[in-house]
Order: sequence, then C-alpha cells, then structure tokens
Amino acid sequence: MIREITQEEKQSFNEYIAKIKEINSKSLNIPLAHVHSFGCQQNVSDGEKIKGMLAQMGYGFTSDTAMADIIIFNTCAVRENAEDRVFGNIGALKKLKQQNKGLIIAVGGCMVQQEHIAKRIRQSYPQVDIIFGTHVMHELPRMIYEKLAENKRQVNIPDMDGVIAEGLPVIRESKVKASVPIMYGCNNFCSYCIVPYVRGRERSRRPGEVISEVESLIKEGYKEILLLGQNVNSYGKEHNFSFARLLSALDNFEGEYKISFMTSHPKDCTFELIDTIADSKHISYHLHLPVQSGSNRILKLMNRHYDMAHYLELIEYAKKRIPDVALTTDIIVGFPGETYEDFKKTLELMEKVRYDSAYTFIYSKREGTVAAKMDDPVSDEEKGRWFRQLLDVQNAIGETAYQRFVGKTVRVLCEGIGRTADGLMTGHTRQGVIVDFPGDNGSIGKYYDVKVTRALPWAVTGELVGNAD
Ligand code: 5AD
Ligand code: SF4
Repeated sequence: MIREITQEEKQSFNEYIAKIKEINSKSLNIPLAHVHSFGCQQNVSDGEKIKGMLAQMGYGFTSDTAMADIIIFNTCAVRENAEDRVFGNIGALKKLKQQNKGLIIAVGGCMVQQEHIAKRIRQSYPQVDIIFGTHVMHELPRMIYEKLAENKRQVNIPDMDGVIAEGLPVIRESKVKASVPIMYGCNNFCSYCIVPYVRGRERSRRPGEVISEVESLIKEGYKEILLLGQNVNSYGKEHNFSFARLLSALDNFEGEYKISFMTSHPKDCTFELIDTIADSKHISYHLHLPVQSGSNRILKLMNRHYDMAHYLELIEYAKKRIPDVALTTDIIVGFPGETYEDFKKTLELMEKVRYDSAYTFIYSKREGTVAAKMDDPVSDEEKGRWFRQLLDVQNAIGETAYQRFVGKTVRVLCEGIGRTADGLMTGHTRQGVIVDFPGDNGSIGKYYDVKVTRALPWAVTGELVGNAD
C-alpha cells in the first residue's frame, strides 16, 4: 500500500524547518553541512533531497568534514565492502566530535535499516547522534531539531514501508542532468539481494507527478533526465500505467533533451519497451540489463525468473531495433554453489552479447537473504581468479566495442572539458557513449554534430561537422 505523507506531516515538516532556520540564523557564521551518499543513483538522489532540506534550514555546504556543523552519511547495504567503508568513515569522526561537541552526526539509509547494523552503531559509535532508516527521510527536520534544541539522541528506523514523500526540496548536483525517482522499493527478492529488506515493497509515484516534474526540469533547461527505480519495467502497476506508456508521455516535450533510465529487470523488460525506445525522439539508446549470470541453474537459484534463451532474445531484438544500442550489465561472480562450468557460461554470454561495459561484483553474503543460508564451498581465492578472468574477457571486448561508431556522425551536448587530449571538449551520444571533440568553454551547453574518427575502450573522439544549435 502506498501512503503519501499527509497535510499534517507536511505542515509539521515545514514548522521544524522554520524552527531550525531560526536557530541557525542566530549563529555568527552560516552553519555548514557535509552530506555524503554512498552507493547507487537512488541514494545520490536521496542525498540531493537531504541537501534541499538542509538548505531550507539555513545550512551552507562543505566538502570538508572538519569544517562541518552537521555531517550526514547516507549509506548503502548492497555489498559488505560498502558497509566497511561507512564504518571506517564513522570511526574517523570520533576525533572531530571530541574537538567540537556541538557537531551533529547523522547516519541514515539502507545500511542502518538492518537491525544488526543499527544496533552496532547505537552501541559502539556513541558519536552518532541521529540514526534514520529509509522510510523517514522526511522526518529529518524533526530529528535534527530535537537533537539541536533538546540534545536528545534520535533513533528512527520504522519497519513500515510504502511511504512516498512528494514535494521535498532538492538541491541537484548538476545543472544539466537531473535524476528523477519514479518508484521505490523492490518486490523481486533475488536471493542474494538485501534491497527488498531495506527499501521495502515496490511502489510507484503517480504518473502525473513524474510527468510534471520532468516537464518543469526540461523547461528549466535540464538536458538529461535519469529515471530511477530498482525495477523500472514494473513501474505503474498500482496506477495501471506501464513504463512504456510513461516513456512515451515523456518523449513529447518541446526542445532537445534525453531521457534515460535504470534499472531494467530482464524478466519484466518487454519487446514493447524496446519498440518504444526505438521509435522515440528523446529516449536514450542505452539499455542496462543486469544479467547476473549466464547459467540457467544459477539464475534459478538467484530467483531471477528468466533464462538465457529469453535474455538473448531481448538482446537480439534490442540490437535489431535500436541503432548502435549501448548494452551494459551487472554480473555477480561466485554466487553460492556456482561451479566453474556455470561461470564459463557467463563468459560465453559476454562473448555473445559484447557489452559496452559490465559492472562486475564478487558475491557478498548479506545477512537475512535466502542465499546467505546456501552452501558456499568455493574459496575466496578461486572466486578472485574467476573475477579477474571475467574482467580480462570484458576488457578485450571493450577494446573494440566502440568501433561501430567510427565514420558515423553523432549528436552531442557539450558538457565540459574532455580527457582524451588538450583542447577537446566532451559530451555523450544518445547511447550514453563519451565523445571528445574540438571546442572551448563557450561550447558548454550547446549541441554539436560530431563525426567519429577514433574509438577508444572508454570513449570516442571526432571532428565537428557543425553546431547543431
Ligand atoms: N553481492 C554481490 N553483488 C550484489 N549485487 C546485489 N547484491 C549483491 C550481493 N549480495 C549487485 C547486482 C546488482 C547490483 C546493483 O549489485 O549485480 O544488479
Ligand atoms: Fe535486488 Fe533483484 Fe530487486 Fe535488483 S531486482 S534490487 S537485484 S532484489
């Protein structure tokens, strides 16, 4: 069940913001906030909302924790190394807290939504003043106020889910690219994944809200909109409004812009969606389709609900319908019970699909998931060897993947200074591929047609055909 935040909650949210602003306005210097988001784009997007709230409370921002009056870590739980990094970072703040007793330290997000982690922070990290779960970001103003005014430690990690807080203020990292969450949570329970436990059940924002937000962003001059969800292909079930329909609705605004999205789940990705992309004016020709494994046996154990035959059918159709489509994926190496035979099937799949790039991970055991209880006999060393083999195969594919663009003319928005050589500016193709081309600072924000002359493993370079503006 979706529960949108109520009028009363909105009112109390505004009142707490005003009260903190009042306190902050009495400070000699503008108080500073340091916000760091770990992990995925969804977390970065949540971080932009946290910043939006803090700005309304009268905080400025600093990238230096030593300068900060409030430090907020927005954490990720998807793999153990992400959690280790957060613990390291929180540990390092102990000294700062001793030097500045008024410093507020808040830790929130996916990691603390797990009971054992929240307990560990509560007990072993007394320097942390506020611990907030994934469903109560909109209650941050109250928690900060109660800490500031009453010096009370705040622990707020309700287990409920389904909350959608529309209309939170937001400070975006970029003036050109904007992320727009379209749904929250996940219902899939892939057996290795902690996300459904920490982000709750799947719920979609109302199509009207998404469409009007994207429309205003484009009117404000944003050129790239990234739609976010754990499984965007199942968007809109509760509104009877499919993802393909949402994309079509977002394709109709005036002007030049690009809509991209992540992440697609192969079990819900449809041929209709691929047609929608192919027939659109503004939708990115990039499909991120996490396969996780090339072995049907492992996919079953992972609870992924598709097999290689179906996956490859989708890939073939996308290659046929979408010009020079960019295909990327996520892969997990060393899932419990995976054998070298299974792993070789993943390598074979990579050769068949020839992804532009792949995000590769060694399996990380997540407490509370189904896979955490499975037998996992393969050693870490062996998994490490498989992982390096996978990287070698993908790197070799990546060496030549962009050759398909050489000789073609691509439309590019100039976004900044290029990295391939001096005097080159940079942008992305409709497929999301980096293109470096001649220009200067005056080119930023304009569109160019670039003829690709050279392909590198991570970018292409080319010469100007003309200014498309
Ligand atoms: N171990 C390793 N990788 C994982 N992912 C999700 N959970 C785990 C885990 N327990 C990877 C998947 C997913 C990506 C976001 O992170 O490949 O697609
Ligand atoms: Fe995790 Fe699977 Fe949901 Fe992705 S689709 S967030 S991998 S459970």
